[in-house]
Amino acid sequence: MAQYDVVIIGGGPGGYNAATRAGQLGLKTAIVEGRGKLGGTCLNVGCMPSKALLHASEYYEAAAGGEFAKLGIEVKPKLNLDQMMAQKAESVEALTKGVEFIMKKNKVEYVKGWGRIDGPGKVVVKAEDGSERVLETKNIVIATGSEPTPLPGVTIDNAGRIVDSTGALSLPTVPKSLIVVGAGVIGLELGSVWRRLGAEVTVVEYLDRIVPGTDTEVATAFQKILTKQGFKFKLGAKVTGAADKGKQAELTLEPVAGGPAETLQADYVLVAIGRRPFTQGLGLETVGITPDKRGIVANDHYKTGVDGIWVIGDVTSGPMLAHKAEDEAVACIELIAGKAGHVNYDIIPGVIYTKPEVATVGKTEDELKAAGVAYKVGKFPFLANSRAKINHETDGFVKVLADAKTDRILGAHAVGPNVGDMIAEICVAMEFGGSSEDVARTCHPHPTRSEALRQAAMGVEGWTMQA
Ligand code: FAD
Ligand code: NAI
Repeated sequence: MAQYDVVIIGGGPGGYNAATRAGQLGLKTAIVEGRGKLGGTCLNVGCMPSKALLHASEYYEAAAGGEFAKLGIEVKPKLNLDQMMAQKAESVEALTKGVEFIMKKNKVEYVKGWGRIDGPGKVVVKAEDGSERVLETKNIVIATGSEPTPLPGVTIDNAGRIVDSTGALSLPTVPKSLIVVGAGVIGLELGSVWRRLGAEVTVVEYLDRIVPGTDTEVATAFQKILTKQGFKFKLGAKVTGAADKGKQAELTLEPVAGGPAETLQADYVLVAIGRRPFTQGLGLETVGITPDKRGIVANDHYKTGVDGIWVIGDVTSGPMLAHKAEDEAVACIELIAGKAGHVNYDIIPGVIYTKPEVATVGKTEDELKAAGVAYKVGKFPFLANSRAKINHETDGFVKVLADAKTDRILGAHAVGPNVGDMIAEICVAMEFGGSSEDVARTCHPHPTRSEALRQAAMGVEGWTMQA
């Protein structure tokens, strides 16, 4: 007799949301987590600590970089990095404890230790003290997440001069110089943190553009803004070696297109070239599951090839985002409970939490062009948005893409102040099959930056009022 209806392996956004929903639906549930704290990558070493440092460093730069002075606030800030790190740690601790509370509230058993599948319906959990416990269950949900992709030939232990995102969230001092390998989300967010605190940041990227996959027009504008802020970019550059030289790190690179090699030195090198699914020690071989490069394969109902074994979040295909993991968690558990869980993969927003932010949802203009879709574009610059203007945050624009015939919104892409929050409006409109005219005719509060989005939608209709 199975003791549990569901055993979830992994306590990140995928795992703990699955556990919560399972508890709500009255399923007897256990969640297994090995890191000693719930919350996964996101709460412990991802979304939340990075946002804590982005928030604090933004204020620091506003004070140190003259932005406050322009507003008539004269201060001479002194950086207390230990306090900045301590407030980050406190917030993270509160959040992870909060998840533990949610588990209790929903009658989910939290089993501490590393889980290993030992045949269908059986999970063996090894606790920190080495003891083992067997959980028998009708369903196993794998939510073991992801880990940083290593740079071939480079050892990263986060103790020396070459770090991954986890190390870059806790550098002991502000580096004079930081090299970031990879112009993706982590590189630009954490690069921003350390640049704001005083580091000279050089980003080395293999491709000839930053943030691949993001709408090219937005990415190009974003790169210009970051360059104005002091970021240096070396695009089309292949890293051929990285070495920890004790007091500094050394990086060798050569142009992808060919040409002379170059050696760079910096106090730290942050390697942020993507993440890969994490399945180490999971015992997949005991049930005949072989992951591919994108992780554990499942059908569109989160079922692996083995009855009663399901998979969600970063460890399976799709964007490696917390909200994607959360949505899959709810849908997967609802399917296990015999309900109709569903995730709309066409409407998964992406946000880069720099200043200004980048936000995107739906098809990019590049994708529409490549697919030969007839579309209309509406664009609106923050320079013409009164709230952005009064706040001196005029960099960037919003772009809305709609079907040329039906006017249905196909995507929205923006770089600018608060666009990360703003994009949710377009997600809702798209979820309801909305047209750009629907957004254009919806009353928006004045003065808000969301009016820029409305004006972009009006632009699709050809009647922008303010630009
Ligand atoms: P995870 O959060 O990785 O959780 C998996 C958990 O499973 C881990 O705690 C791990 O210890 C545990 N585990 C693994 N194997 C076992 C086992 N055998 N037994 C027991 N436990 C196990 N996403 C966003 O949407 N927004 C952001 O702003 C954002 N910022 C990020 C910043 C950084 C620096 C990083 C690294 C990532 C960020 N992400 C962000 C991505 C986000 O963290 C992930 O998409 C999200 O955490 C995935 O959730 P998950 O539940 O699939 O996996
Ligand atoms: P990424 O996929 O965003 O960017 C990696 C970059 O590295 C790409 O531009 C790629 O072309 C480049 N690259 C790959 N190999 C390289 C090499 N050998 N040399 C130089 N450049 C190379 O990955 P990143 O930034 O590591 O983030 C990992 C994941 O974490 C992302 O998938 C993202 O979804 C998630 N994340 C999300 C955040 C958010 O939602 N705000 C914040 C941080 C992470």
